[in-house]
Amino acid sequence: MFGVLFFSLLYYVVYADKYYTIKPYEDSSVFPHYGNFSVFDTKLKRLSFIGNFTFDVHDRSSVYYFIGGPTAVNRNLNYIYLPITSGNAFKRLLLVVYNYKTKTYHQSRWVHNDGNFGFLFYNPLRKRLFGLRTNTTFTYYIEEYDIETLDTVKLYTQQDVRKYAFINGRCTAFDYNQNWIIQVRVGFDNSSYNSYWIKMDLNLVGKKEDIVTDFHLMPHAYYFLTMTYDIQKTKLIFCTWQNGSSLLDIYMFHLDPKQNGKFPYRNQSLKLLLKTNGEQVETVRDVWNPVKREILYLIQTNTGATRKIIRYMLRVQFDTRLVLEKTILTDKQLPLLDSWEYFYLS
Ligand SMILES: *[C@@H]1O[C@H](CO)[C@@H](O)[C@H](O)[C@H]1NC(C)=O
Ligand SMILES: *[C@@H]1O[C@H](CO)[C@@H](O)[C@H](O)[C@H]1NC(C)=O
Ligand SMILES: *[C@@H]1O[C@H](CO)[C@@H](O)[C@H](O)[C@H]1NC(C)=O
Ligand SMILES: *[C@@H]1O[C@H](CO)[C@@H](O)[C@H](O)[C@H]1NC(C)=O
Ligand SMILES: *[C@@H]1O[C@H](CO)[C@@H](O)[C@H](O)[C@H]1NC(C)=O
Ligand SMILES: *[C@@H]1O[C@H](CO)[C@@H](O)[C@H](O)[C@H]1NC(C)=O
Repeated sequence: MFGVLFFSLLYYVVYADKYYTIKPYEDSSVFPHYGNFSVFDTKLKRLSFIGNFTFDVHDRSSVYYFIGGPTAVNRNLNYIYLPITSGNAFKRLLLVVYNYKTKTYHQSRWVHNDGNFGFLFYNPLRKRLFGLRTNTTFTYYIEEYDIETLDTVKLYTQQDVRKYAFINGRCTAFDYNQNWIIQVRVGFDNSSYNSYWIKMDLNLVGKKEDIVTDFHLMPHAYYFLTMTYDIQKTKLIFCTWQNGSSLLDIYMFHLDPKQNGKFPYRNQSLKLLLKTNGEQVETVRDVWNPVKREILYLIQTNTGATRKIIRYMLRVQFDTRLVLEKTILTDKQLPLLDSWEYFYLS
């Protein structure tokens, strides 16, 4: 009895890594529309349900295919901000806020007929929620949202994608101390794929219309998958990368944001994160755990012709790039791996 209790206690102190997950239920024929907040235990490899939330897109039809993300977390108010859009031709875009302590929630007014969020961040020092939103135009809108009502309260800047290239998945780092955003974007020039480095100085908001302070082609940068920023200690970005587009292995390296996109950091040799053996990489999610200084990767691949899905869970030590664990998860252990948004709460 004591042993069991002791072991449980030890387990929670030493091992328990709770990574939270949230997503809207994709099928819009279910009313009310709802979503699910859960927790994934990396030790037990088990997803446990915590709570439901509902939302409304002011349309009784069932034509939408809801997808969520990217999320932002406001630890002062215990809020998770979740954008919801539709993954097919019928569009809606709104924001939901879920209180992970009280399990209460509310949503923004439904205002946008189109688009999605390229990033969404909460600045804990200035207590601001802001994001980059796309719509059918060639313009990106970086806007601030009221942290409670979720109404748009301020337009920070507009960007023409023909000038500043396209956002690339979640490849964004935000420093709330210095108030900058760094992204690796993608351009298609001369029928080839190119990565671009862009730095935006949020201190210029309200002073200048264009807040971009650096934008340039990154020679031989190929395909960035994720960028995980350690604002707590080293101020380095941990990147994952493929040398080319698909069907290639995933490498990892550090990048120093002060070096304007020069990589790898300090002549680091490229290190393999995942050998894909020709599998097609579908999804790569990175979750930063600043307490253990490790990154949780959830990667979904398929085997091309047979389309057999493989779900990897990897834990990587940020400073040493040591792969601490590599496990193949079953669909039962983590159903719909690629449709959840993941985040760490200490
Ligand atoms: C909510 O998520 C849990 C896992 O966390 C899953 O077992 C359950 O089926 C989900 N519920 C719905 C209605 O999607
Ligand atoms: C979550 O909401 C859905 C839709 O309302 C419902 O079917 C399901 O039973 C709920 N799940 C839990 C665990 O409350
Ligand atoms: C895109 O968003 C802007 C800013 O909210 C808006 O003025 C414009 O009408 C939108 N365009 C489309 C096609 O929805
Ligand atoms: C595309 O080609 C033009 C003309 O050859 C050249 O000036 C330009 O630098 C090229 N752009 C890139 C990104 O390679
Ligand atoms: C990427 O691939 C190209 C072409 O195969 C090769 O020349 C280059 O050395 C590779 N780069 C790295 C950093 O591995
Ligand atoms: C990286 O390698 C280059 C060429 O070998 C060398 O000149 C440079 O000092 C090295 N930089 C670091 C930080 O080690």
